[in-house]
Amino acid sequence: MKGGIFGLCGALLFVQDAIAQQLGSTPPGWVLRRQGDSGYECKCYPDDDCWPNKGQWEKLNNTVGGNLQVNIPPGAPCYNTFKGPLGDVETYDEAECEKVTSNWADEQFQIELPAAGLWTYFTNDTCRPTTTPTDTCTLGYYPVLVIMAKTDAHIQAGINFARENNLRLIIRNTGHDFLGRSVGWGSLVINTHSFQDIKFSDTWSGGCGYNGSAVTVGAGVQAFQVLEQANAMNPPKIMVTGECATVGVAGGLVQGGGHGPLTNFHGFLADTALEFKVITADGALKTANAKKNPDLFWGLRGGGPGAFAVILEATYKTFDDPPSAGINLDIDRTHTTNATLFWEAVRIFHGYSTYFVDNDLYVYYELGTAGQNLHVHPFVGVGKTLAELRAVVQPMFDDLDAIGIEYTTSGAEDFATFYDLYQTMFEGEAAGNSALTGGWTLGRQDVEDNHPGIISAFQTVLAAGSFMIGHMWSAGRGVPESQWASSSVNPRFRNVVDKIITLVPVAGNAPLAEKAAAQDKLTNVVDAALREAAPNGCAYVNEADPYEPNWQEAFWGDNYPRLFELRKKYDPEGVFYAVSTPGTEDWEQIETGTRLCRKV
Ligand SMILES: Cc1cc2nc3c(=O)[nH]c(=O)nc-3n(C[C@H](O)[C@H](O)[C@H](O)COP(=O)(O)OP(=O)(O)OC[C@H]3O[C@@H](n4cnc5c(N)ncnc54)[C@H](O)[C@@H]3O)c2cc1C
Ligand SMILES: *[C@@H]1O[C@H](CO)[C@@H](O)[C@H](O)[C@H]1NC(C)=O
Ligand SMILES: *[C@@H]1O[C@H](CO)[C@@H](O)[C@H](O)[C@H]1NC(C)=O
Ligand SMILES: *[C@@H]1O[C@H](CO)[C@@H](O)[C@H](O)[C@H]1NC(C)=O
Ligand SMILES: *[C@@H]1O[C@H](CO)[C@@H](O)[C@H](O)[C@H]1NC(C)=O
Repeated sequence: MKGGIFGLCGALLFVQDAIAQQLGSTPPGWVLRRQGDSGYECKCYPDDDCWPNKGQWEKLNNTVGGNLQVNIPPGAPCYNTFKGPLGDVETYDEAECEKVTSNWADEQFQIELPAAGLWTYFTNDTCRPTTTPTDTCTLGYYPVLVIMAKTDAHIQAGINFARENNLRLIIRNTGHDFLGRSVGWGSLVINTHSFQDIKFSDTWSGGCGYNGSAVTVGAGVQAFQVLEQANAMNPPKIMVTGECATVGVAGGLVQGGGHGPLTNFHGFLADTALEFKVITADGALKTANAKKNPDLFWGLRGGGPGAFAVILEATYKTFDDPPSAGINLDIDRTHTTNATLFWEAVRIFHGYSTYFVDNDLYVYYELGTAGQNLHVHPFVGVGKTLAELRAVVQPMFDDLDAIGIEYTTSGAEDFATFYDLYQTMFEGEAAGNSALTGGWTLGRQDVEDNHPGIISAFQTVLAAGSFMIGHMWSAGRGVPESQWASSSVNPRFRNVVDKIITLVPVAGNAPLAEKAAAQDKLTNVVDAALREAAPNGCAYVNEADPYEPNWQEAFWGDNYPRLFELRKKYDPEGVFYAVSTPGTEDWEQIETGTRLCRKV
């Protein structure tokens, strides 16, 4: 480490500029690196001479009201010393260590930390809570500094500072991102958690052919917060969110699309968006709706998280919340140890996927999480009574009975609203897990033409030590075809009947060869099997392999060229970066996933 806490520009900068001039066009503030035969221009990091000096950081800190923090990884209180890129810090604190250890798997605990990633794989897991304080705690891929933004002006200052100093910038809301997009080595984070405003309106006055009810939410609002308030209204209201109550509703979710239990009726969260207030890479405050900046409005509706602008607030349609019913199904080793019989049951269950969504069911299931295990939790009938829901699922139960398999059903209940069902039947989820996440979707055509192939792909996924989470819905049913193109999600989604997440467990601090093997397995065995079995499917940018082959086509299909142009228009210099998002083809995280650079 050189130049004290914040590094100081010195003679080396001059030398580097001289090299840059020799090579031609490297702009100031970019750092030249080589890896293999390739040359790169990289963002500026703490060990580079272009890293801002103490005075510059102090000035930024003043501009953001003293809300700039040096980031200490969450496990640090369990270690004597945190060996950070800005210097060593004595961190041991027994009470804090106990707190972080016991809350490690608690989503909300991790969400409220300044810059934690809920999927620790992408933090590199270099400072896990421990009982051995003499072990080494380093930053790994956790960010270096964080702006805990409280106002629009703080976010603007952060964007401008990152752009002017060529720093790796990350926008962090809840830290849920399955692909590690809300953490990054050597980065400056803007944390949006304080943006908590929620405003309902009975009639949206923003025009664009819609005058129904709406809600405007700040960037940091989470699903459970807005749903709770919506449910307290008279009559109770609801909006499209994911199945997970802790995900943010104005950050990554809408920018990736945002599917959930109401998707059969209203499409993606992105389909229900009416307006965004944003700050673009040039630091300008903009409104994006169907009339103002309509191209940006379109891109923010499913065109990729963290790609075009920072969202300050978003407005969505809200809907009356109808009575609903649910039911759970479990088949595991307590029911049969006969693998042939188990897979026959899976085939029967899954063979109904098209029928389920055609009858407006949302079906959330896990396959293989505990070995030979099918956990359907739950079948959801939004707007249905339990009797109506039972009538829809009865043919499947008849088929299961016919092969003589035992199973358990539970939770069968009528609810006054979907919200009540959501609160009661959906299971909580844990943070702090380390896995590589992938996924693929199954088109209607694939299920009709190649169901045996799909089931053998599932068997391949499980045999590889992976497991899967499925979501049966139709994003094409509730949204008229004439409106499909108003959001930028892959048009293929409209014919999807099952959206699958695959998970390959791997420790975040595993040796590099083991990580490479896990990535290879995800891409070339697990997801490859699903892709091959379902050629009419596509991939969901928020729940996919970060290194999905042909990601442009897989994530966005025919919409990609327009999204690429949009990125070049709104962020020509690459102020924002998130893996496998539009226009990032030239960018690479070299030196084992650390320095973000563009190829020269
Ligand atoms: C347990 C679990 C369940 C899930 N269930 C669903 C589901 O049912 N349906 C579904 O569609 N998805 C689901 N997801 C995936 C979810 O959509 C993504 O993880 C999403 O990226 C989370 O967004 P976030 O803003 O809460 O998280 P973050 O990790 O903080 O951010 C995610 C991405 O969005 C960017 N971002 C965040 N805020 C902003 C902002 N204000 N402006 C610009 N960029 C921003 C970040 O830079 C990052 O790239 C689930 C994820 C988990 C972990
Ligand atoms: C920013 O200012 C606040 C308030 O003065 C201070 O507590 C904090 O340590 C400063 N941040 C940095 C990174 O110096
Ligand atoms: C990340 O973890 C790998 C081992 O999985 C290790 O080789 C590498 O040095 C780590 N890098 C950082 C920056 O923590
Ligand atoms: C809302 O729009 C509908 C259909 O365009 C129209 O019939 C109705 O009068 C409008 N209501 C209000 C309050 O403007
Ligand atoms: C397992 O189930 C299959 C399918 O029902 C059946 O043909 C087979 O005999 C069963 N095997 C055993 C060992 O019971």
